Amino acid sequence: MQTVIQTKNLSKNYGTTPVLKSIDLEVRAGELTAIMGPSGSGKSTLMNVLSTIDRLSGGEVWLEGKSLLDMKKQAARQFRQERMGFIFQDYNLLDTLTAKENILLPLSLRRFKAEEMERRLAPIAQALNIAGILTKYPSELSGGQKQRVASARAIITNPAIVFADEPTGALDSRSATQLLEQLVGLNETFGTTILMVTHDGYAASYCKRVIFLRDGGIVNELYAGEQTQRAFYDRILDAQSLMGGKTR
Ligand SMILES: Nc1ncnc2c1ncn2[C@@H]1O[C@H](COP(=O)(O)OP(=O)(O)OP(=O)(O)O)[C@@H](O)[C@H]1O
Ligand SMILES: [Mg+2]
Repeated sequence: MQTVIQTKNLSKNYGTTPVLKSIDLEVRAGELTAIMGPSGSGKSTLMNVLSTIDRLSGGEVWLEGKSLLDMKKQAARQFRQERMGFIFQDYNLLDTLTAKENILLPLSLRRFKAEEMERRLAPIAQALNIAGILTKYPSELSGGQKQRVASARAIITNPAIVFADEPTGALDSRSATQLLEQLVGLNETFGTTILMVTHDGYAASYCKRVIFLRDGGIVNELYAGEQTQRAFYDRILDAQSLMGGKTR
């Protein structure tokens, strides 16, 4: 499997406060990974540094084998736009565009032809079960539908990796379960590489790998392997209590 992201001794400070400490992490193509950890442990900061939104303070990051330190600002931005997708807790959809226009926005900005956009949209809309709501505006959609639209927008560019920071955070438990099943479906159907922050062990149990952060460092890592989701969930809860109680 190809390595999408690799870090060595990655650190990040805000002022003099260390927030990420000597992170060694490898994310391979096709992986579905959760990042867990207490509030303030550095989960969002890690996502922001890996996605080039925020600058690292020390160590190294390689994106598809290219050193981030060697990339000019413009090259990093281009990499982010072309090779990365994003799903946010609060959807980040544009209210004045329909679901379909929101999804296609990253392509229309890059002047893709209409037929090519339609060709890409069809299988994704089907996989996310949103084919019937494409002409609606965000204000007409439920939270779960909005997040599925946002997920479609995140993968319409065929990104190397999708970053999702608490994607189920604003959803009720039924919509959250639905979204998690859809994300697993995208991972299985299209081989989408997903890195997802969650404080919820149940959400994490849908992933194949869980990384635990505490005080800015990786303190534990679990792989689902062949075990059932239920057994993996139990192991995640055990790991959380070993880390000292709840992750939030
Ligand atoms: N822009 C910033 N300037 C200064 N400090 C920051 C900034 N962003 C985050 N921090 C600090 O860095 C630490 C890690 O924050 P981060 O947002 O990564 O945590 P998190 O694990 O995502 O927490 P949560 O679960 O609450 O979202 C916190 O102590 C936070 O106060
Ligand atoms: Mg956060």
